Amino acid sequence: MVATKAPEDAYTAEPFLPSHGGLPALRRAAADCRGCPLHRDATQTVFGAGNAHARVMLVGEQPGDQEDRQGKPFVGPAGKLLDRALAEAGIDPDDTYVTNAVKHFKFTRSEPRKRRIHKAPTLREMTACGPWLAAELAVVEPELIVVLGATAGKALLGSSFRVTQVRGTVLEEEIHGRPERLVPTVHPSSVLRADDREAAYRGLVSDLKVAARAIQ
Ligand code: URA
Ligand code: SF4
Repeated sequence: MVATKAPEDAYTAEPFLPSHGGLPALRRAAADCRGCPLHRDATQTVFGAGNAHARVMLVGEQPGDQEDRQGKPFVGPAGKLLDRALAEAGIDPDDTYVTNAVKHFKFTRSEPRKRRIHKAPTLREMTACGPWLAAELAVVEPELIVVLGATAGKALLGSSFRVTQVRGTVLEEEIHGRPERLVPTVHPSSVLRADDREAAYRGLVSDLKVAARAIQ
């Protein structure tokens, strides 16, 4: 009898990674990634974008509706808010590289043809997509990683990550075999959903100021 392996055991982007080349080669290869089932319903892979020599890498969760349509990270409402907060914290957007823990949009629809509703990726999907993030880190070699919310935190630091416990602090951890400095904060979408949006926004800016100081 032939043992059949459940396909979900094998979720990984690993076989799709190019053997060499910089960000352009990675981006081209990621466009054809079939490492987990999320590519099936999404429009396209949303790879990281920004300065290949950035000192700061910002890591979000996964593309949203707008990002899925436009093929670029953080171009929707959360991205607009993030841009504003970065400017206020004194982080130059030209000195950043922005990406996500998971490169395809995961969503549900309440009814056919209805609005697409964001669905959090599973740990298995985050793990599957991890090789892309590791490759981006290896190429960009940022001085600092800004971790945007719980999903990015779990993807980079493990499932015990709690954003409320470590936000606004500089962590030093080994990530994919390299020593990294990280500043976690909340996800910009959580600011948009907060009851007290102004307070939540100020909290985000204050954490980003910690990041700005850490690279001075
Ligand atoms: N939220 C994210 O985490 N990433 C994006 O690119 C957009 C919204
Ligand atoms: Fe590949 Fe990541 Fe997309 Fe899954 S989410 S298909 S691992 S790029």
